[in-house]
Amino acid sequence: MLRRKLLSGFLLCAAFAPTVTFAQTTNSAAVSTAKNYSAPKETIDKIRDEGMNRSQVMQTLSYLTDVIGPRLTGSPQMKRANEWTRDQMTKWGMQNAKLEAWGPFGRGWTLKNFRADVVNENIEFLQAFLKNPAKVGAIAPSSPELAQKMIENIAPDKENTILELGVGTGAITKFVQDIVPNGDSYLGIELDRDLVKSLKKNYSQLKIVSGNACDVFSIHQKSGLGKVGFIICCLPFVSIPNDIGEKILLQIDKFMESGCMFRTFQYAHGYYFPSAIKLREHMRDRYGKAQKSPMVMKNVPPAYTLTWKNEI
Ligand SMILES: C[S@@+](CC[C@H](N)C(=O)[O-])C[C@H]1O[C@@H](n2cnc3c(N)ncnc32)[C@H](O)[C@@H]1O
Repeated sequence: MLRRKLLSGFLLCAAFAPTVTFAQTTNSAAVSTAKNYSAPKETIDKIRDEGMNRSQVMQTLSYLTDVIGPRLTGSPQMKRANEWTRDQMTKWGMQNAKLEAWGPFGRGWTLKNFRADVVNENIEFLQAFLKNPAKVGAIAPSSPELAQKMIENIAPDKENTILELGVGTGAITKFVQDIVPNGDSYLGIELDRDLVKSLKKNYSQLKIVSGNACDVFSIHQKSGLGKVGFIICCLPFVSIPNDIGEKILLQIDKFMESGCMFRTFQYAHGYYFPSAIKLREHMRDRYGKAQKSPMVMKNVPPAYTLTWKNEI
């Protein structure tokens, strides 16, 4: 297993170092006396098998580019990427992986404040993303196709309220409002206060609360609404800290105990990220195998929906 991971890491390095590989080839060609060496077929087959069947390249690349994201030298993001790489190498069994000082470089910088005037929903979403990329966890709101999948076969009523976690700009709420009989069967929770302000204007008939999903059980109790029958979860588990994710899952369990359906979406590229797997394992251990939708291609990025039910 360790050898496989090291090999995959090596393949990743190889993918990014074509010039090194080329230089070596040229040098060896220049040594006319050197004997041609052919690796045994068995070795080549092993390398091909690792690359084709157990490659770590996409997970590694995707984590560094999609989750940690773009970074400048000296920025906190760069520090995070360096530390993640060091820890990943240690996890793979490499010894003495450590960070070393480089420079002097001078000061780094990071974006603390950002202002944009809202023209439409996409801009509003982008604005929220730029303010807090990890908490928003996506660069665009869910598409109508994903929203439809998220509410498929859901029929809320007063005693089977829909709970929407991470309402965002209301990309899914827009469709939810067509299936709720009245304001008594919906509760939305969103962390970003600015988003909640405009959600309240756009969906005045629905109860949307500014709050943290870590407290969702007590928020629901205080709301005076009936039993939760459906949870539509849009929280970015892949980019929120582990301890927060765990707290939220324990809150969700409390609703599930009294019989509930839980549905979330996971982006295709992040499907095998550790926190995405952790969520699936948490739910599978308690509520069995998920109902997984076909991939919704018309979404940026493409995603699957996953549904668990606890029927009492
Ligand atoms: C990926 S966006 C989804 C937005 C929208 N539902 C959609 O599908 O387009 C995730 C949303 O969850 C919110 N969020 C993140 N962590 C949260 C938390 N702990 N409690 C409540 N909302 C949270 C973010 O502010 C963001 O609006």
